[in-house]
Amino acid sequence: MHQFRYVGNQLFCEGVSVDSLARKFGTPLYVYSQATLADHFQKLDHALAPLAHLICFAMKANSNLSVMRSLASLGSGFDVVSAGELQRVIAAGGDPKQCVFAGVAKSAAEIEFALRQGIYSFNCESEPEILRINQVAARLKKRAPIAVRINPNVSAKTHSKITTGTYENKFGIQFEQVEAIYARASKLSHIWLRGVQMHIGSQLTDVKPYELAVKKVLPLVRRLAEKYGLEFFSPGGGLGIIYNPALASGSAAWWKTKSARGILTPATYAEKLLPLLQPLGLKILIEPGRFIVGNAGALVTQVEYVKRTGKKNFVIVDAAMNDLIRPAFYDSYHEIVPLVKKGGAPVSSDVVGGICESSDYFCKDRPLAKVGEGDRLALLSAGAYGSVMSNNYNSRPLAAEVLVSGKKFAVARERQKVKDIWAGEKIVAWLK
Ligand code: LLP
Repeated sequence: MHQFRYVGNQLFCEGVSVDSLARKFGTPLYVYSQATLADHFQKLDHALAPLAHLICFAMKANSNLSVMRSLASLGSGFDVVSAGELQRVIAAGGDPKQCVFAGVAKSAAEIEFALRQGIYSFNCESEPEILRINQVAARLKKRAPIAVRINPNVSAKTHSKITTGTYENKFGIQFEQVEAIYARASKLSHIWLRGVQMHIGSQLTDVKPYELAVKKVLPLVRRLAEKYGLEFFSPGGGLGIIYNPALASGSAAWWKTKSARGILTPATYAEKLLPLLQPLGLKILIEPGRFIVGNAGALVTQVEYVKRTGKKNFVIVDAAMNDLIRPAFYDSYHEIVPLVKKGGAPVSSDVVGGICESSDYFCKDRPLAKVGEGDRLALLSAGAYGSVMSNNYNSRPLAAEVLVSGKKFAVARERQKVKDIWAGEKIVAWLK
C-alpha cells in the first residue's frame, strides 16, 4: 500500500498535491512519502514481533539522508556495502552498532573504518575476506564480529540480474564449504563468529524460493549456532513489491484471495518463515530495501514533446534513463500516471527520455491517457534503486528530492547544479 492517490483528478502524495510540488521545485523530481516508508517498516517489524529481531534497511535502495533518518528514528539498523554508506549512516544519525556490512570486495581501509565504528557484523563473502578482517582486527587489537553469507544454490526465480543465491553468482560462500570455513575461522584469534547470513536475490514475489532456501540452510545454521555460540541468523532481504497493479488488481480484497497467498508479504513471510525461525532461538536480522522504500517514491516528469510517427506515439519527457535506469537495465515496469487526470481514450505510447540511447525509455506501447506538451506524469514505485542509481550521463544534473509527511513537504536533496557535475575535473597542465 502506498500514499500516492488521486483526490478528485489530482495526484496527491499524502496531503500534498504532487503537481504543486512539481511547479514549486521543477522536474525531474523524486517525491517520497514518509508515511509509506514508516508503514512498510512497521509492517515488517510487526510481522517479526514474536522474535528477537533487527531490521537493517538495505540503504543501497535509497540512501537519502532524510529517508534514512526517518527509518533510524523508527529503530532501523542499516545494511551497508561500502565505507561511504557507513559514513552516510553516521551523517543521517543512524547507529553503526546496528549495521551489517555486506559486499564481496571490502578493502582493508573499509574494514578498518567499520571496525572502528563498532558495526554489528561483517557479512563475509569469501575466506580471503575473513583472513583480511582478522589481520586488520589484529592490528587494531579488536575482535571483529562476522557472519558467513551462505550461498544456498537456490534459484530465486527473479530477474537474472538480481539473482544472487546460485553458484553462477559471485555472492556468498558455497553451502558445502561453509562448515569447514567456520571451523577454520574459529581458530583466528581476532574473529568473533557472531552469526550466519544468506540472501538469495531481490524482488522476490513468491514466498516459495525463500522458504526452500531457509529450509535448506536451517540444519546447518543450527549446528553452527550450537558449536560456536552464534547470536544471529539473517535470511537476507529481497521481499518484492507490486510494480504493476494490473497484476494485483490493486485492491485490498485481492490480497485475501487464493492467488495472493503465495505472494511474499510480511504476512506470508511471518506465516511460512516464523515457524522455521522461531525454534532456532537466535536473533533474526533481515535486510529489506525495496519493500520499505520502493512504493514510497515517485519520479515526476514533464512532457517536452509528443512525436507521432506512422508506427509510434512517442511521449518525450524531461526525465531520462540517467534519472531512473531500471527500465533500461532490467526491462522493469513502472506505472505511469498523470498528475492531473484529463480523461479521454488511452493512446498506445512509448514514454522516452532525451538521452541518445534507444534503451532510454520508461515504457513501450502502453495504453496511456493522452498527454500534451507541459503535462506532467509520475513514474510510480521509483523509491528503490531509483535516485541512488542515477548518474550524470549527457551532463544531466541529478534530480531534486522532496520528502512529504502529511501536509508538510521539504527538499531532501537540492537539484544538482550543472557546474557541480564537473567540479572535480581539471584541464591538465599541458593543455592550458
Ligand atoms: N541484502 C543483500 C546482501 C543484497 O545484496 C541486497 C540487494 C539486499 C539485501 C536488499 O535487497 P531488496 O530487499 O532491496 O530486494 N538494482 C536492482 C536491485 C539490486 C539488489 C542488490 N542487492 C533493482 O533495481 O531491481
